[in-house]
Formats: sequence, structure tokens, C-alpha cells
Amino acid sequence: MFYPMKINIINGPNLNLLGRRENDIYGNQSFIDFFEALQKKFPKIQLLYFQSNIEGELIDKIQESAQNCDGIILNPAAYTHTSVGIADAVRGIKTPVVEVHISNTFSREEFRHQSFVSPNAKGVIIGFGLQGYELALLSFLEKH
Ligand code: DQA
Repeated sequence: MFYPMKINIINGPNLNLLGRRENDIYGNQSFIDFFEALQKKFPKIQLLYFQSNIEGELIDKIQESAQNCDGIILNPAAYTHTSVGIADAVRGIKTPVVEVHISNTFSREEFRHQSFVSPNAKGVIIGFGLQGYELALLSFLEKH
């Protein structure tokens, strides 16, 4: 099957627990269920999904995706606020990266207000729950 566009969704630490973790903040849906529904909704886009709790694995996946994807949707989770390595990976590739956060990080603790990734992202979507991933996907369909 020919896919005109290939987008990799990359999730950072603890996002494998979605649906079971702090439900008041992150909701009740598992990411796999959400991902499958998203792929059905956008059958002409090839969606890939990768999650890791390990910083270096996320960096490897960002670098790899730059070789074989048209865009990256990245939720670096806690590494958003700490990782110069992930920020440098995003800075070092030409493939556009849209940063997504499920919760509104600005309405939470102050340490979540800083993102090392945002300055090098194409755009940032914060606080719309899992819908943020769909909004990020839509942004790749529009020419800016
Ligand atoms: C998060 C926000 C981060 O501060 C937090 O560490 C996460 C998830 C979000 O999607 O809202 O794990 O990236």
C-alpha cells in the first residue's frame, strides 16, 4: 500500500502507563487504543508508534525517524524538562517535530514550565489531552 506520508509518534517515560496513571491528569484511555483509533481515522497516513522510558533510546529513535519519516510527534514527558540530549537530537535533524503534552504543563508545578525541546520544535500543543496528538497530525497535513 502506498502511503503519501509517514509520521512517527514518540512517547517518553511513563507514558506506557496511560489509562492507568494519574487518571485525573492523563485520562482513562490507553495509548495503544487511542493510536489504533487514530490510524483508522487517518488511513492514508502511515502512523508509527514508539515509547521508551530510556533517554538514549528516545534519542536513537528521533535520529532514525529523521531518516525514514516525514514528521515526528514527540511527547518527551519528564525528559522535556531535563534533557539536553533530546533537545539536541531535535535540533540536529531536518524532519519537523511537533511537541505534544497531554496535560497543561503551565498549570502544574513550576519545573514543568520549562521545555528544552520547544525552541527547536516546529510547534507545541499543550493541554488538550490525547486530542493533542491528532491536532499535531493535522498540522502536518497543512502547508505552513
Ligand atoms: C507530560 C507532562 C510532563 O511534565 C510529565 O512529566 C509527563 C507527561 C504530558 O504529556 O502532559 O510525563 O509530558
